[in-house]
Amino acid sequence: MRKPHNPQSRITNVRSFLPRQRFAGEFRPLVAQEAGEFLAHLGRLSPEDRRRRFGNPIRDGAMANFVARIDWSSGLVIGYFEGGYLRGAIQLAAAGEGYEAATAELAIQIESDWQGRGIGSALLRKARAAARKRGVGRLIFFALAENQGVTALLSKFGARFRRVGSDVTGDLPLAVPA
Ligand SMILES: CC(C)(COP(=O)(O)OP(=O)(O)OC[C@H]1O[C@@H](n2cnc3c(N)ncnc32)[C@H](O)[C@@H]1OP(=O)(O)O)[C@@H](O)C(=O)NCCC(=O)NCCS
Repeated sequence: MRKPHNPQSRITNVRSFLPRQRFAGEFRPLVAQEAGEFLAHLGRLSPEDRRRRFGNPIRDGAMANFVARIDWSSGLVIGYFEGGYLRGAIQLAAAGEGYEAATAELAIQIESDWQGRGIGSALLRKARAAARKRGVGRLIFFALAENQGVTALLSKFGARFRRVGSDVTGDLPLAVPA
């Protein structure tokens, strides 16, 4: 039976309460044997997104070295797959020197035709949950200060930003429910 209209209701736009999910693929962690898929995905980024992801217009060879150096046993890459291709991924890696143990750094990228569909948000949610499960105490990020896409995404998850030259850095709160 249809509910009678409630004139007191403040819900004027029901659509805005629905999850903004506009994708049909699947999310799963990558294994070391999928390093080639990861490199192919990074290679499909537009030159501008490649620069946003790495902070500089990294060349193919340097990107291949970057992927070859990934420590798949301690780090984590969660991918978004659609139609058999990796179209987006978030990477967590030990933050390294100068940071307490149990600090992880995140980096994320979505291929341009898949941006703006909520995939970045879904990956961030999954990475945050995985980080908590693995005992990560602190999740940090670095991005170009001009990168409005990622700053908008991270702000949604409660990140605060500190400017360092042309970059911004900060923490992504871990204690927020998924
Ligand atoms: C940043 C990035 C990961 C966002 O992924 P995405 O899948 O497009 O993000 P979502 O669709 O989940 O959008 C998340 C929010 O950010 C906002 N947003 C995304 N891109 C934006 C942009 N260019 N400008 C302003 N806001 C933007 C969206 O409007 C959305 O907010 P909403 O949920 O309130 O609508 C993606 O644009 C990307 O891969 N960029 C290139 C690589 C990069 O910059 N990586 C970051 C390096 S750490």
